[in-house]
Amino acid sequence: MKHPIPASVLASVFAFACASACAHAASPGAAGDVQVLHWWTAGGEAAALQQLESTLRAQGVQWRDVPIAGGGGAQAMTTLRARVLSGDPPTAAQMLGFDIRDWAAQGALQDLTPLARSGGWAQRVPKALQAFDMRDGRWVAAPIDVHSSNWVWANKAVLERSGIARAPADWDAFVSDLDKVRKAGFVPLAAGGQPWQIATMFDGIVLSTGGPAFYRRALIDLEPAALDSPTMRIAFTRLRALRPYVDGDYANRDWNVATGMVINGRAGFQMMGDWALGEFNHAGRVPGKDYLCLRTPGTQGSVTFNSDAFVFFKVKDRAAQERMVEDVMTPEVQARFNRVKGAAPALLGVSSAGFNACGAKAIADLAEADRNATLMGSMSQGYAVAPAIQHAFYDIVARAFDGEISPSEAAVQLAAAARARY
Ligand code: GAL
Repeated sequence: MKHPIPASVLASVFAFACASACAHAASPGAAGDVQVLHWWTAGGEAAALQQLESTLRAQGVQWRDVPIAGGGGAQAMTTLRARVLSGDPPTAAQMLGFDIRDWAAQGALQDLTPLARSGGWAQRVPKALQAFDMRDGRWVAAPIDVHSSNWVWANKAVLERSGIARAPADWDAFVSDLDKVRKAGFVPLAAGGQPWQIATMFDGIVLSTGGPAFYRRALIDLEPAALDSPTMRIAFTRLRALRPYVDGDYANRDWNVATGMVINGRAGFQMMGDWALGEFNHAGRVPGKDYLCLRTPGTQGSVTFNSDAFVFFKVKDRAAQERMVEDVMTPEVQARFNRVKGAAPALLGVSSAGFNACGAKAIADLAEADRNATLMGSMSQGYAVAPAIQHAFYDIVARAFDGEISPSEAAVQLAAAARARY
């Protein structure tokens, strides 16, 4: 487990937190405040969060923002641990997948079940998400969106100037388009070298190479025969073959800076989750006219999800906290938030009216994948395997991308990493 905190420590931490924080709690009747820890600092992300913030403010709840920059949330999780251990937990924190399970297992999270029952969450949240948002039959997290990692973003004008008439339909067409973009003088693939970004590309490549059943066997069930297999070697060969299409400055580039390269016409493509759509939205770009959104070639029909959820810590004055829970799980709030964020609402059945073509596609793809059991957790975003294995995978995938290890070595190492941490 990534952050083992003994229950006794947590208990005294919460007692302390309440002794200090609850003394300043809002007087009865006042709406109070919420302190919200998150990593939504890119333009589109911050604009989306603003939708939730303004809803709470209109209800008289003060919003105390605790932004911790860093795509994928690793820094945010480190800060959160430190704050909880020092007796200063926030009201709420953005959280993903296995981290939710860890914190819930430690007994640190509020039980949201009464609110979930009155809100009918069980009927409206996809079952694949409930597996993370619930523990032992109790709700421990409120999911606000469903992002997914198997997306590609393309600048339409760059494609046209490269002689590409339509979006690539399969992997070979994608690679041949990258070649065309390079010949036309643009950066073919915008990317940043942070391991979570390479892992995001890898999610889509594994799915495209082996299909949904293989993705599940390898990256969720961790079957050694799938992790170290000819199919996985092809996936690593494909990943490695992308490296020459990335420019020289990629090493420490943030994901949203890479998205900016596609938005501004410096680069042709980016393989990134649909939080990139939030950046296109924020820049006022129009899908179909300025840019294209497509599922990673060869993955249409499957969705490797990562759902942003809020967890709520145990603080004594619950009024403002419960207000936030209810707002997060309100269809209208989820619609407003996700039109800006670029994700599908976590509540199934929210109308796609008012979403642009890419947002509407995200909603339709999610519903289809949920029906067909091809809605699967994203390895890169912490919804497939526990953090220790995920971080070992990050390291292997990043080294394979840079050519430090061969595709065969990488496949062997994936299987070894999965075994070592069982
Ligand atoms: C993901 C998160 C998204 C987006 C992205 C980049 O983990 O689920 O909402 O914020 O990181 O920061």
